[in-house]
Parts: sequence; structure tokens; C-alpha cells
Amino acid sequence: MQGALTGIGTWEFAAACSNAGADGCITAAVYKTPEKLREAIKKIRAVTHHFTVNISIGACPNIDGMFDVCFEEQIPVLETAVYKPDAYVKRIKQSGVKWIHKGATLQFCRHAEEMGADAVVLIGTEGFGIKNIKQLPTFTSLCWARDQISVPFLIGGGIGNGRTMAAALAAGADGVYIGSAIMATHECAISERVKQNIILAQPDEPYRIRELTAPPDPEAYAELMAKRDSMDLNKWIRAVEATFLKLKDKKKTTGEKTIWEEGAEGLGEDPYAEGSTKGPFSFSSAYINQIVSVKDFIENMVKEAEEILQAFARRHQLLS
Ligand SMILES: Cc1cc2nc3c(=O)[nH]c(=O)nc-3n(C[C@H](O)[C@H](O)[C@H](O)COP(=O)(O)O)c2cc1C
Repeated sequence: MQGALTGIGTWEFAAACSNAGADGCITAAVYKTPEKLREAIKKIRAVTHHFTVNISIGACPNIDGMFDVCFEEQIPVLETAVYKPDAYVKRIKQSGVKWIHKGATLQFCRHAEEMGADAVVLIGTEGFGIKNIKQLPTFTSLCWARDQISVPFLIGGGIGNGRTMAAALAAGADGVYIGSAIMATHECAISERVKQNIILAQPDEPYRIRELTAPPDPEAYAELMAKRDSMDLNKWIRAVEATFLKLKDKKKTTGEKTIWEEGAEGLGEDPYAEGSTKGPFSFSSAYINQIVSVKDFIENMVKEAEEILQAFARRHQLLS
């Protein structure tokens, strides 16, 4: 499944992913208003009937209207993410639309399953996006959660080639969920600089390790948690994201602007300096060394995963 992507998760990109054999995902927030989302849904329907719409709770504007459009249009699959879905579950279940919830912890995925989610996505610390203090690395998340989740279960966070896909499937995932790596494709609307940076970046750059996996400053985190009930949810989620990505002190030390400060539109532009390997992407950049079409990206990944799993099966038969 193609992951939700702030600012660039358009219907065109979702259609390219769906038509290449994955499940394409429109990010509702890209369209800002319910009517624009409706137009996007109508447009994608003209080219595929197989897609998901992501509504990121606490990040998506006009959220009630966005849900209404998804229900009225009877989209194939709705994905909720970022914050707990509880306030919307009754309406989702009444709508009859299939519902996936994406969470950063096993606890959130189990909660969604108990509330009636038809499938869940669990994202490990290797991934880019919203983080949680109890989030675990992708492989640990997968192996711990697998036997505790009964509905179809997708894993994400650092997945970006056939090897990571094969490992996830071999460990029991029903599917994989990909945000960063699939941005390195011709069809993705992210800036060319970010695409080049995905190729250039090394996963072991200390900056990246700190951004993705180091826990946030404990004082800043505690302060933020104490403010949950007194702050507007959308502002609070933005502050959570900035705290986990350590954006505040990064700005203090480098003076750099970040895509989160630029706003979602910044993703299609180029906020990074020449020669930098920074950008809004995860460790999966490790596996990317060229920009290809979405079709080639997905086909290469699936082919590589199949070859690895088949070779494993052959070796196993030889040994038994
Ligand atoms: C640029 C960018 C923007 C993202 N925006 C969203 C978003 O709006 N909503 C959401 O639920 N997840 C968002 N994500 C997270 C992805 O959907 C996905 O969970 C994550 O990228 C998976 O890890 P990976 O980057 O290692 O593949 C975003 C990820 C990236 C890279």
C-alpha cells in the first residue's frame, strides 16, 4: 500500500500506484476542502476503482466534511491515522465503508481493531511521520504484534525494496505500507531536490538517526502532554510532530526552515540547500539509487521479494 503523504498524496499519484498493482492512497488534507476531495475521488474513479482515502485526524482541515464526502461517495477504503479515531468510529461503521486505521503502536492498532477496524497498519520507528513515545522498531513491532492482531495487518517504516518486503511477509505481515521510498518515482510531486536527496542520503547519517529514532526531549514532551486538553488538536499534533522530529532545536542550531514550518505546500517546492542530503524521508532511502516510474518501482520490488522468498523455499527444501 502507498502511504499517505502530506501535500503530495494526490489522486494522480494514488492512481499511478493502484494501476501499478499497489493500493494507491489519496491524502484528503491535500485537497483542503470536502468539495475538492469529492472532485479528486470522481477523477480517480475514472481510472481505477481500487484506492484508499487517508484522513489524518488532527492534521486534516475541514475534517467532518472530509468524512462526509468519503461516506457519500462510498469510497472503497478509508484510512484514519495520526490521532485516535474514536470520535468518528460510529459514523465510519454506519457508512459501510471499509476502514483501516494506521497507528505507531500495537496498543493503538489493537484499540482500532476492537472498535471495528477492518485492517490495521503499524508503523515502526524506521518510518517517517508521526511518532510515539512507545513506538518500537519495525521488525520488533511486527513480530510482537503479529499474533495479537486478527484483522489483516500491514507493516510500515523503512520498507522500500524487495528484501524488506520479503522479510515483512516472511515474518507474517499481510502487506507492506510505503511512504518515503515510493516518493523516488517520476509520478510523485515532491521536489526533484528531495528525490535526489533520497538517492544521495545515507541511512547512517547521525542527523537522520537522531531525527527518526532518538526520543524527544523529556521536558518538552511532558510539557506537551500536559497541554493536550487546553490546545486545539490540530495545533497540538503539529507540536507533537515538531517535538519528535526535534525541529525546534534544529532550527535554533541551523536556522533552517523545515517543510513542516513551510506548510504542506512546501513539499512540492524546494526548502533544502544544494549539497544537503536532508528531506522528509526515512531510512528506506538506503535502498533507493534511481528514480523510476511507479510501475517499475512496484514491479521491481515484488519481483525481488518473490525471488528472495523462492530462493529461501528452495534452500529449505534442500535441507529438509
Ligand atoms: C513526506 C511525508 C508526508 C507524510 N504525510 C502523512 C500524512 O499526512 N498522514 C499520515 O498518516 N502519514 C503521513 N506520512 C507517513 C506515511 O504515510 C507512512 O506512514 C510512512 O512514510 C512509512 O514509513 P516510510 O517513510 O519508512 O515508508 C508521511 C510520510 C512522508 C514521507
